[in-house]
Amino acid sequence: DRKPIIAIDGPAGAGKSTVARLVAANLGLVYLDTGAMYRAMTWLVQQSGIDLDDECAIAELAAKCVIELAPSQNLDSPVQVCVNGYDVTTQIRTPEVTSKVSAIAAQTAVRLELVKQQQNWGKKGGLVAEGRDIGTHVFPDAEVKIYLTASVEERALRRLQDFKKQGLPEVDLEQLEKDIAERDWKDSTRKVSPLQKADDAVEIKTDGLHTSDVTAKIVDFYQQRL
Ligand code: C5P
Repeated sequence: DRKPIIAIDGPAGAGKSTVARLVAANLGLVYLDTGAMYRAMTWLVQQSGIDLDDECAIAELAAKCVIELAPSQNLDSPVQVCVNGYDVTTQIRTPEVTSKVSAIAAQTAVRLELVKQQQNWGKKGGLVAEGRDIGTHVFPDAEVKIYLTASVEERALRRLQDFKKQGLPEVDLEQLEKDIAERDWKDSTRKVSPLQKADDAVEIKTDGLHTSDVTAKIVDFYQQRL
């Protein structure tokens, strides 16, 4: 007797976070950003000076890590994230973390621990969870499963606009495309729960669509299903 769950998966920069936040606000559901948890774990590894390949030491770190997520009141800002009591909200969005997160997220022990925490969050349902393996592994019985995609070009452009909006230093569009394609490749070819569309997920290609259109589609779909 849990409340419904909406699972949103897809590659980097497809607009998952913005859309998931809007859908959650619209339907009065809780928003869970699972990528933020892998980012927090990556920050922790970098901070503790452990080698990214040292899976044993990382497993120990993962078993002891306490991640707290507090969705921001402002729909435009990312979730507030604390790991072991440190507020890492801004640190987890830096290029240093972004370029290494896929290597950490590919490790079995890390996934076991974080998926356990995510499932704990979702025990009572009533949430919109966003990530790479939500519909396939974390909540395979989610009532609504969405797979959001967009071309690499479109996703890189959106990232560029995000950076500008946040007043971050200028980045090269071609470099962004390369980084995004590389992260997609790592996330979809790893051994443990790779990025994959669930068989029963509805795919939405977001090229040329506004976030409000995508949000409306998902809200409609949810209301039809329930
Ligand atoms: O969504 P976001 O870009 O913040 O995710 C960062 C990284 O975390 C992804 O590139 C992926 O390696 C990992 N991730 C994952 N499984 C999830 C969510 C994120 O492996 N459910």
